[in-house]
Amino acid sequence: MRYGHFDDDRKEYVITTPKTPYPWINYLGSEKFFGLISHQAGGYCFYRDARLRRILRFRYNNVPTDAGGRYFYVREADGDVWCPSFAPVKSELDSFECRHGLGYTRITGKRRGLSVELLAFVPPGVDAEVHQVTLKNESDKPRAVTLFSLLEFCLWNAHEDQTNFQRNLSTGEVEIDGSTIYHKHEYRERRNHFAFYTVNEKVAGFDSDRESFLGLYNGFHEPDVVKAGKSRNSVASGWSPIASHSLEVKLAPGESKTLVFLLGYVENPKEEKWEKPGVINKKRAKELMAAFSTPAQVDAAFEKLRSQWSGLLSSYKLTSSDEKLNRMVNVWNPYQCMVTFNMSRSASYFESGIGRGMGFRDSNQDLLGFVHLVPERARERIIDIASTQFADGSAYHQYQPLTKRGNNDVGSGFNDDPLWLILGTAAYIKETGDFGILDEQVPFDNDENNKASLFEHLKRSFYHVMENLGPHGLPLIGRADWNDCLNLNCFSETPDESYQTTGNRVGRTAESIFIAGMFVHIGPEYAALAERRGLGDEAKKARELVKQMSDTVLQHGWDGEWYLRAYDFFGKKVGSKECEDGQIFIEPQGYCSMAGIGLESGHVKKALDSVKARLDTKYGIVLQQPAYKEYHLELGEISSYPPGYKENAGIFCHNNPWVIIAETLLGRGEQAFEYYKKIAPAYLEEISDVHRTEPYVYSQMIAGKDAVRHGEAKNSWLTGTAAWNFVAVSQHLLGVKPEWDGLSVRPCIGKDIADFTIERRCRGATYKIRVKNLSRGGNVSLKVNGKPIAGNIVPYAPAGSTVDVECEA
Ligand code: GLC
Ligand code: GLC
Repeated sequence: MRYGHFDDDRKEYVITTPKTPYPWINYLGSEKFFGLISHQAGGYCFYRDARLRRILRFRYNNVPTDAGGRYFYVREADGDVWCPSFAPVKSELDSFECRHGLGYTRITGKRRGLSVELLAFVPPGVDAEVHQVTLKNESDKPRAVTLFSLLEFCLWNAHEDQTNFQRNLSTGEVEIDGSTIYHKHEYRERRNHFAFYTVNEKVAGFDSDRESFLGLYNGFHEPDVVKAGKSRNSVASGWSPIASHSLEVKLAPGESKTLVFLLGYVENPKEEKWEKPGVINKKRAKELMAAFSTPAQVDAAFEKLRSQWSGLLSSYKLTSSDEKLNRMVNVWNPYQCMVTFNMSRSASYFESGIGRGMGFRDSNQDLLGFVHLVPERARERIIDIASTQFADGSAYHQYQPLTKRGNNDVGSGFNDDPLWLILGTAAYIKETGDFGILDEQVPFDNDENNKASLFEHLKRSFYHVMENLGPHGLPLIGRADWNDCLNLNCFSETPDESYQTTGNRVGRTAESIFIAGMFVHIGPEYAALAERRGLGDEAKKARELVKQMSDTVLQHGWDGEWYLRAYDFFGKKVGSKECEDGQIFIEPQGYCSMAGIGLESGHVKKALDSVKARLDTKYGIVLQQPAYKEYHLELGEISSYPPGYKENAGIFCHNNPWVIIAETLLGRGEQAFEYYKKIAPAYLEEISDVHRTEPYVYSQMIAGKDAVRHGEAKNSWLTGTAAWNFVAVSQHLLGVKPEWDGLSVRPCIGKDIADFTIERRCRGATYKIRVKNLSRGGNVSLKVNGKPIAGNIVPYAPAGSTVDVECEA
């Protein structure tokens, strides 16, 4: 069942009922000011860091779900109260529509002939959310209504805000100046920042104290002030500061009125904090307000946002007969890649914004789907990430975006982390040709006195694996590898211990075949970079080590029909036919196959056939089988989940694409595309009632076949799934991939897709690629500007040129 539809021309998803199976959200902003907004106008915003600079309050786990956001209440002369976003009042609407677009959301509700539209977005380069509200009288009678706005401020630190009430309830402060409500919690002491909410008209009244506005025993759906039709002009002192305006709006039949509300964030230099004692210096705030005081200014900023996105999306354009594929590749998958790049795993409707900062592993993988969008930002990110690496090559698992420093609470010891830095950097250099980044001097552990070139960082990443091998010559797993929940040294018997940071046993036995696969897949990138720096011997040595690891996998990491997953603390096999549960895992099948370990000898084919036979389901490939029925002390969190959920045999959409890529390596495009379609959201729109999360973005996990709710997704938006599926579809199924010296063109997608074209911009040149799809399993013949070439690499052309590529595939 569907709850809306795609509007491909406008690049929007149009939700046509407020009652979607879960809040379907969107993101606003992609620089420093970010907002999350649901189809019912719920959500919150923050400046750079969802934990430390939270502007709006949002209660996770609230009842009802999705309460709190940017609300507008319409109060009719006869006392009727409703909201264009349906929530929170829930008066029935004559029509409802929410259009989630690229960086903006437009919600329109209509009741009794009055239509009210909210357009919310963060203008490019601006630290504010615009809420443009347009009321239109579509009836044939004059209309007089009072419009109330409402949002609730968070006391900046989102964690403190939800825990430290003995302090919080006394610290909130506001200032009122005309139509503007200033939120200045803690501004009197160490904060130099404040927020404000304003509207571009004189107001009839305002409120800034939640209790005065709602009434102590009322929810958002029944504010006293709105019922009474009159603001109380309350000035918050402690308790819970809010911002609410009221405006009297009179509309003749057919008349409409547009109001511009602005929610801004301002930082003042320390010495310019005050206008006079106790009064905020509002100069910067007023400049910001002046820039958005008319609908014309808003329209111009909105156009800028639209054209920014068309520019971003123009680096990879597919035209094919499959509209679902087009919309995933051209719009929604890259859009999600931008969001994951910005947020890492911090703030979504499943990530509270107070738990995790930027993940070392996660952010590196996010780069894979992002480098072609804004390469300069990818560059900065690589340096930030590398700066949290330790001198021995290991890395902080997470860092806080505001401080860019490693997070000591989580620490280090995830032994896959270092290798991802090589992969992310290689993807960036292939895209841009910027080998110069390797010479950047980058600190270890943010210590300016201990720096080395980025290349040296990559070298330490590479050797960190070699210096940490176990009894079989395979990489030690440490706290966990990609699978955060395979905790082989944890042995936790105590509730509340973190599986990721607790190590109750110290040993150097638990080994990961997954990291071995990564080493064989990613090691050659390091070797290639060394070679290009004139370090021929180093390159040769690296290649030998890679070869050796590949042999070790075949010797100690092969179970007969598939790759093993690991050796545990006691040296026992994990992911073997000898195990009772957890006999086969997806991660090593995907990664060792992508690495081509045993490709010629048939191992890859066997492994992928085993995936098909044992892990495939109608909703995607599950993580392992059989699911763990009981808790295993020696395996950790993976066995803590009920069968079929999360890492215990859930469908992890993040590692399905590894299998997809590996299938294309074998030339089995049909199978690869079938796997792709099982999890790509646009293909799941029709089963939204089962899938439940947004049909325009990937979720991290879909419940596996052992689960009670097989097919139901959770954790939408913030997942490495976005980047990896973009890699799988754009570089392997459709087959256009930047390499060191040229664009590799090797489509392998099976015969379901007829001929298609791709326009790819890379390093300033444009490649127009026409593919005649004969489903030849990755065997391609190419003509470049009319001349046949050998192989599948189209050499890079000078910036500004257009290259014509004809491909038979
Ligand atoms: C989550 C984490 C990611 C991890 C995955 C599997 O998505 O963000 O780092 O690899 O789970 O455990
Ligand atoms: C939990 C989740 C896993 C995530 C980890 C990060 O273990 O199951 O997906 O990666 O937390 O802390």
